[in-house]
Amino acid sequence: MTVAARTAIPKWMGWLIGLSPLLALIWFVCWNVGYLRTLRVEDRDLRCSLKSWPACAKIPYGGPSAVRSRHGLPSPSNMSSPFGQDAKSNGQGRMIAAMEVLDAIEVRHSIRKYTEEPVSDDDLMTMLRAATIAPNAGNRQGWHFIAVKNKDVLGRMKESIRAQTEELASLAEETGMKKEAREMRGRLPLMVFFATAPVTVAVCERQDPPDGMGQILLKKGLSDDEIERLRPSRMMQSIGAAVENLMLTAVSLGYGTCWMTGPLIAVKQLEGILDVKPPFRLVALIPIGRPAQTPSTRPRKPLPEVVTIIR
Ligand SMILES: Cc1cc2nc3c(=O)[nH]c(=O)nc-3n(C[C@H](O)[C@H](O)[C@H](O)COP(=O)(O)O)c2cc1C
Repeated sequence: MTVAARTAIPKWMGWLIGLSPLLALIWFVCWNVGYLRTLRVEDRDLRCSLKSWPACAKIPYGGPSAVRSRHGLPSPSNMSSPFGQDAKSNGQGRMIAAMEVLDAIEVRHSIRKYTEEPVSDDDLMTMLRAATIAPNAGNRQGWHFIAVKNKDVLGRMKESIRAQTEELASLAEETGMKKEAREMRGRLPLMVFFATAPVTVAVCERQDPPDGMGQILLKKGLSDDEIERLRPSRMMQSIGAAVENLMLTAVSLGYGTCWMTGPLIAVKQLEGILDVKPPFRLVALIPIGRPAQTPSTRPRKPLPEVVTIIR
């Protein structure tokens, strides 16, 4: 640059150029402070739900759409894929949302005592919707969910389990199995507490006739057991995914749940009360309510004991 050209630059611009590294530094610090403050707000929510979850049940969560808008996340209808354009444009929001999923997984524990606070239909539908968008084999959606809020129906379900337990325990006693009879009666509370929840979801599995692939395997002369080995419990695995989706959504909305198959000791009576008919069959009950107990953490085996990595 010539001397003439340098003198042509206005004085203020020279100052600006000279100060530009300092201005860039100030901008960088401000941006980061703002960003960290956002994270701290989210972190406060997170800590609350981790350490005092039952107390947090009172937090007005506002449902997934409110959570989404709080994090500036696109609604599912605008989000073509989890890695779609809209989702990518908000890297910060996506990261926080991912943490909330992990958080829900970590804080979920079986809850067996509930307050009397009702579960709103809005929240219930949010949980059931989450269940129905679970991965499922062939997208056959072979499930049906019956949400029971009626106390009289819940009471009849409980009574049928009590009667069935008593019948089996008496039979055990008569055949000299006194210890087993005692244990069976002792387990009764773990089979009937669902009746104290404001709502219990009865999960039903549809039993479909063999699909195309199933028919080919039958033609090949394979037995039902052999076909089961080739295509293991596809519908039941799908239902497992649906139930877990429901339960994690319940946690994120401040509810407690417990996956229950114990009550199925009286499955015929329960199906009668709930009017479950073939091709459906009852496979689980999921009571839902605001937690009235601090969940206990049941220990898990260390990862090396249950994980193999083939490199
Ligand atoms: C298929 C299945 C059936 C279960 N049935 C019952 C049940 O009938 N009664 C009960 O109190 N808990 C039941 N549970 C809950 C388990 O006892 C519980 O998930 C396990 O002890 C781990 O504790 P956590 O859920 O608090 O992590 C069931 C869980 C599963 C997955």
